[in-house]
Amino acid sequence: MKELSSVSSPVIPDRNLQGALPHHVAVIMDGNGRWAMQQGLPRTAGHKKGVDAVREIVKHCRHHGIGYLTLFAFSNENWSRPQQEIRVLTDLLCASIDTEARLLIDNDIKLSVIGDLTRFTESLQASIESTCRQTRNNRSMTLTIALNYGGQWDIYNACQAIAKKVECGELGAAEITHRVIQSHLCTHDLPDPDLLIRTGGEIRISNFLLWQLAYTELFFTDTYWPDFDIGRFEIALNDYAERQRRFGNIGRQIKETA
Ligand code: IPE
Ligand code: IPE
Ligand code: MG
Repeated sequence: MKELSSVSSPVIPDRNLQGALPHHVAVIMDGNGRWAMQQGLPRTAGHKKGVDAVREIVKHCRHHGIGYLTLFAFSNENWSRPQQEIRVLTDLLCASIDTEARLLIDNDIKLSVIGDLTRFTESLQASIESTCRQTRNNRSMTLTIALNYGGQWDIYNACQAIAKKVECGELGAAEITHRVIQSHLCTHDLPDPDLLIRTGGEIRISNFLLWQLAYTELFFTDTYWPDFDIGRFEIALNDYAERQRRFGNIGRQIKETA
């Protein structure tokens, strides 16, 4: 494991360190536009400020040894936004993936991207490809960015790939198990999220990791994404640590196996 560099060591506010840490945290980073409007700024200023929040949360996850962080940055549905906002968002993604590559390399973080990238500009696709390649052997943490991603898109892609295998006789219909479906999703090399955080006050999933969130603990906060700092992240981690995950069992069974 490489040295932990450029990772701040914040004072951890009141955290129950005995409690379980999630292995995989997924985040719906919402509220950038409303944050900006609240400050009297154009919506795009919120997206710019949101990049700073991403950097801090990435560093904090790495600091805690959280193995997987998956961030929803652009949904299939976000294409219906005004063209100018889409342009700012894609330019920002392109610039951030380039400028943050050093942080990922220095901190042994692997970048991975899920979603249909073919609709993005060639320069964004090239930046993604380059940073993913440079970080592909990093092992301390996997940062996954969901871009032009949708949970339904992920599931129907998996269905099509499986159907093709059935069609050519590579797979029997009775062999389509939970594991087979999982292995055809674009998250096939990630564990399911333990904790999903959604900022920005909406209580919905908005077509994120629909299959993968089956037993994920959900945490919703009114805080807009640009204001979601380490202290607020710690509140979500502490909340998670207090929960009993039963996976269909009863509480006593969970205590017995603990
Ligand atoms: C989340 O913030 C970023 C993206 C969806 C790209 P929003 O842009 O949705 O901000 P609000 O929800 O309108 O405030
Ligand atoms: C969810 O935010 C998608 C991302 C954060 C990328 P949206 O702002 O697009 O979600 P809705 O439209 O409010 O459900
Ligand atoms: Mg939104």
